[in-house]
Amino acid sequence: MTFEARYQQYRAQADQRMIELLERTEPQSLYGPTRYVLEAGGKRVRAVLVMLAAEAVGGQPSQALDAGVAVEILHNFTLVHDDIMDRSATRRGQQTVHTRWDEGTAILVGDVMIGITYQIILRSIQTRQPQVLAAISQGLVDVCEGQMLDKDFETRTHVQMDDYLQMITMKTGRLLETAAEVGGLVGGGTPMQIAALCQYARHLGLAFQIQDDLLDITAAADELGKPIGGDVMEGKRTWLVVQSLERATSPQDRQLLARFLSNKGLPPEDVPAMRELYQRNGVIDAAQEEVRLHTERAESELQHLPEGEARQMLAWFTQMLLNRRF
Ligand code: IPE
Ligand code: IPE
Ligand code: MG
Ligand code: MG
Ligand code: MG
Repeated sequence: MTFEARYQQYRAQADQRMIELLERTEPQSLYGPTRYVLEAGGKRVRAVLVMLAAEAVGGQPSQALDAGVAVEILHNFTLVHDDIMDRSATRRGQQTVHTRWDEGTAILVGDVMIGITYQIILRSIQTRQPQVLAAISQGLVDVCEGQMLDKDFETRTHVQMDDYLQMITMKTGRLLETAAEVGGLVGGGTPMQIAALCQYARHLGLAFQIQDDLLDITAAADELGKPIGGDVMEGKRTWLVVQSLERATSPQDRQLLARFLSNKGLPPEDVPAMRELYQRNGVIDAAQEEVRLHTERAESELQHLPEGEARQMLAWFTQMLLNRRF
């Protein structure tokens, strides 16, 4: 089986198991929208990562499936609440929960997903359950901290590259780290192997979020599943913005950036001008290079894991994420 086929297989298993584990149906007003989110697809990166991490330390992917689904549901909680915070009307090609229903529903859909995550761990994970619970809880707390920094930065005058990296380490890196750690735990990995998996995922997280920032301006809307330029309109301090503030010197560019900062974002008609600014200042190329570097750094951590097919699969998975278009 090719690595691609194996990824698709694990992804399909996660999709199916996720719906099986979502047993409850009443009230329909809560579980209808919950199912709507979980059935909308997604790359299932975190579920697959749990399974691949387990295999890379000698475990069976089937042992790690429920743990993977638990982490994936937790990720989906972060997305539902993220879309309220970011005022995003579309995700994965469909309306967001707070847009289709209302904010109260979206808050509760997110909340119930956290509860379900814990229920799955408590019911299905016997191996090292206390450590798995600790990892999940830490991931949840850290995502909240990162998401708060993300929001704080929208209204802060000075955000340096280090601040940005700290923020994305928390909001995006930590849950990938949680996935890798949980996989290592349920797969029976040694402390050294689990540490390597965590380091791998930390760098993967940096690459993943910088790529996410890049796709917001360079992707095709139909592939991305949402309109282009959402970050520009919301005044987000993305890698591209932070880097542009360091690089751009022409009066025209400084003026556009100043307007972005003082108005906390730009109207939709200015998104193309912002893209041109990024291009003119080499920021798009630099971001791509940065994604590549963090991906390479992530991959180099894999050498601390036992050599074999499972490790090769993780390396393939890492490259697949580097080349993703959504
Ligand atoms: C989106 O995550 C949010 C970030 C952390 C960048 P994904 O890009 O993994 O979203 P889905 O689950 O595939 O839709
Ligand atoms: C995602 O950051 C971080 C979390 C959801 C924790 P973004 O706000 O950039 O994610 P997208 O672009 O909306 O998926
Ligand atoms: Mg956000
Ligand atoms: Mg968002
Ligand atoms: Mg984004």
